[in-house]
Amino acid sequence: MKKAAGWLEAKLRSIGFNVEVVPTPNHPIVYAEKRLSDIAPTVLFYGHYDVQPPDPLVLWHTPPFEPTLRDGKIYARGSSDDKGQIFAHIAAVESLGDQLPVNVKFVIEGEEEVGFGNLVPWLEGNLARLKADVLVVSDSSMLAPGIPAITYALRGIALLEVRLQGSARDLHSGTYGGGAPNPIHAAATMIAKLKSQDGKIQIPGFYDKVRPLSEQERKLYHKLPFDAAEFAAAIGASAMPGEAGYSLLERIWARPSLDVNGIWGGYQGEGSKTVIPAKAGFKLSMRLVPDQDPEAIYALTKAYLEHILPAGYSLEILPHGVGKPVVTELDSAPMQAASRALEKAWGRKPVFNRMGGSVPIVADFQQLMNIPIVMMGFGLDDDNLHSPNEKFDLINFEKAIESSRNFLLEFAKTLR
Ligand code: BES
Ligand code: MN
Ligand code: MN
Repeated sequence: MKKAAGWLEAKLRSIGFNVEVVPTPNHPIVYAEKRLSDIAPTVLFYGHYDVQPPDPLVLWHTPPFEPTLRDGKIYARGSSDDKGQIFAHIAAVESLGDQLPVNVKFVIEGEEEVGFGNLVPWLEGNLARLKADVLVVSDSSMLAPGIPAITYALRGIALLEVRLQGSARDLHSGTYGGGAPNPIHAAATMIAKLKSQDGKIQIPGFYDKVRPLSEQERKLYHKLPFDAAEFAAAIGASAMPGEAGYSLLERIWARPSLDVNGIWGGYQGEGSKTVIPAKAGFKLSMRLVPDQDPEAIYALTKAYLEHILPAGYSLEILPHGVGKPVVTELDSAPMQAASRALEKAWGRKPVFNRMGGSVPIVADFQQLMNIPIVMMGFGLDDDNLHSPNEKFDLINFEKAIESSRNFLLEFAKTLR
């Protein structure tokens, strides 16, 4: 992590930035500024240099931290999420050289993938020097290869873990079977009560604050060049189950969701073992949409889990973090400038969309700075984010640089 921050520091310094590597109790924040003049507009870029763990290592075709060019793609952990994307903006600024028409600031953090870190307090304490006319974030994906996207909303998140215990120790399933608690069954019972058959989340109050999709958005999504069958085929699934009454895109982008991410308990080894386990558990993630409050959703979920706990089990609930959803304006002047910038680079207009993933800090930027936000991502759904053989298509990398250059030039014009 220190090496990555140091690399950014040296790179940004070499192209004329004032750079500060801000220590935090965890990973440092890289802050950089290149000032032209007091009257020039200012563009603030946000990105992250931290990545998710590369394991399982055996599934990588080339080492995760040795970027390898293969079939027109750069394979490496972080190539798409988010080192490659933030680097494209650095390369754009570098390529403009003396023609750079705006002041540029970079905030590149090392704790995005942790979920909650030390960036918010630092932002709060540095609002004056961060002052900018627009925040640009490239930490998302395009709609499809060749179809650029400006993303106006991301989902929030709430994460938790449930631990259950029945007996004080594992038991012989003959001696005790039929008469002893089994926490795996308790877990299964509870999980089954989280969603109805038609995909509605059963936590009371869960949907209360969900901002309904506007008719305009519904229509917009129906017109997008998106093929649900292809989307399913791309992940090898034969069906895409979810909340009744909503299209696949609506469900992924604009409706909340709940997933069990892992479940444990009992004997998992080869063959059989006649045992009734003492303990079991599972992990949950919920994706949230405006105007759901992640803390409130966590509290509702905890209360519901306590309510549906079968008799005879002890329950422990561990919070694993929350992140706010974000929705931006739909057609701010900077978004229009970004639209022209993307069109010039890709030869087609971008689509305006939401995305299902989360970058919680964007909502904090919005609340603290109250400036227009442009989210233009250059990744693809099949970039293997967080999984083995993450890649970034070279064409996307090149077009990202071009798009960023175009944006800086276009944006300078809009404020003149
Ligand atoms: N860049 C992703 C989020 C993302 C991916 C947005 C694809 C849009 C399209 C980000 O780095 C990420 O992985 N966020 C985590 C947040 C969590 C760790 C709190 C996520 O969404 O799981
Ligand atoms: Mn990311
Ligand atoms: Mn990520």
